[in-house]
Amino acid sequence: MDVFEIEGPVRLEGTITVSGSKNAALPIMAAAILAPGQSIIRQVPRLADIAVLRQLLASLGAKVERINGDVHIDTTVIDHPVGEYDIVRKMRAGICILGPLLARCGRAEVSMPGGCAIGDRPVDIHVRGLRELGAEIHLENGYIVATAPKGGLRGKQIFLGGPFGSTVLGTANVLSAAVLAQGRTVIESAACEPEIVDLAHFLNAMGARISGMGSPRLVIEGVSTLQPADYTVIGDRIEAGTFMVAASMTEGRVRLQNCQLDNMLAVVDYLEHIGARIEPTEDGCIVTREGDLIPADLTTQPYPGFPTDLQAQFMAMLALAEGNSVITEKIFPDRFMHVAELNRMAANIRKEGPSAIVAGVKELIAAPVMASDLRASAALVLAGCAARGKTLINRVYHIDRGYEHIEEKLNGVGAKIVREDV
Ligand code: EPZ
Repeated sequence: MDVFEIEGPVRLEGTITVSGSKNAALPIMAAAILAPGQSIIRQVPRLADIAVLRQLLASLGAKVERINGDVHIDTTVIDHPVGEYDIVRKMRAGICILGPLLARCGRAEVSMPGGCAIGDRPVDIHVRGLRELGAEIHLENGYIVATAPKGGLRGKQIFLGGPFGSTVLGTANVLSAAVLAQGRTVIESAACEPEIVDLAHFLNAMGARISGMGSPRLVIEGVSTLQPADYTVIGDRIEAGTFMVAASMTEGRVRLQNCQLDNMLAVVDYLEHIGARIEPTEDGCIVTREGDLIPADLTTQPYPGFPTDLQAQFMAMLALAEGNSVITEKIFPDRFMHVAELNRMAANIRKEGPSAIVAGVKELIAAPVMASDLRASAALVLAGCAARGKTLINRVYHIDRGYEHIEEKLNGVGAKIVREDV
């Protein structure tokens, strides 16, 4: 079991190249199922979650390999349209094979994804959207069993909103199924996240006819077949945002490469309000911070609002601000596992329902802490870089799910992180 030992405080200075987006790569790799043949997906990060999806695709009958860093997916044969519990339980995003399998094979069985540290993770909207396209769907022994009508799925006007607004992977599933449905589909209240825009671009590269990407209204003209495609995924805006916070927290100066600022306007807006300076460059930006950290009131929302996946990291930074901040989590109301761990590092944070009240402190103090979910773990790494002393983070496998060599990237700009296998 790996742990991180992090010595602080440090000032981070230097250049980091942001990896390809995990949350774009996952639905895009799954969508390769839609076209028999070999697709090439480039700039796919080397992450545990990607490895699980590769295992899942192989279990369906596909051949998946990395050649010179790119992921080659041969979906000529998909003869076992079943997403096994043993694999899907490792990564709930495995649900993103449901729509593509149903559209390609006319039938799909995918294990119901479990919950996780950030709270309940229902898929009722995924099911509702696919039923609207004509699928018969029922639950059997913990599996979602979906069957398309004899003549195939049929396009329809679908409302895909839920109690927390749009759903990212729900949109991915319904979009991936609609591209091969007969006739026109309109998805209202679709997710606008850049990762869904990237998926739509990949599908159009395969011959799909999607318009409206980036807006809450997607229009899809169904086609009868798709072709494999060669596609490069976008940079990971959440990894980029994590490193922007790292530079701000440590009063450093970090240049980020392969980072698309126009996907991060809410993040940049809050960072500048809090006291960071973001200087755009040709393929990213330079992040610095002079002066005190200013408190902020943050509310997470679907894109283009402030992303829930950066909530924990911003909380670690606001723990050092001059005054009180209020962070309200509107996407995953239970996503506060990091509060107790940050308080172990002398932060002063109090949970109040769907919000956390962050009373700024002068300094964080190193302590042994426990990683819980992917982004909370990243927040603890940032806190360790800013804290006085040696922080020990247990269960860093959470971090490896979503950050490619995070300790190498941060050590490359002056962090002191040692990974130990204990
Ligand atoms: C995606 O998860 C991301 N994962 C998450 O990132 C991210 O936090 C989330 O979107 C929100 O932006 C991937 O893309 C692999 P949702 P997803 O469906 O699609 C509710 C990370 O750290 N909901 O947009 O599973 C749901 O409970 C991960 O990289 C329903 O009620 O999230 C939540 O409250 C963590 N019914 C809200 O919608 C449904 O059928 C948004 O969830 C589906 C979702």
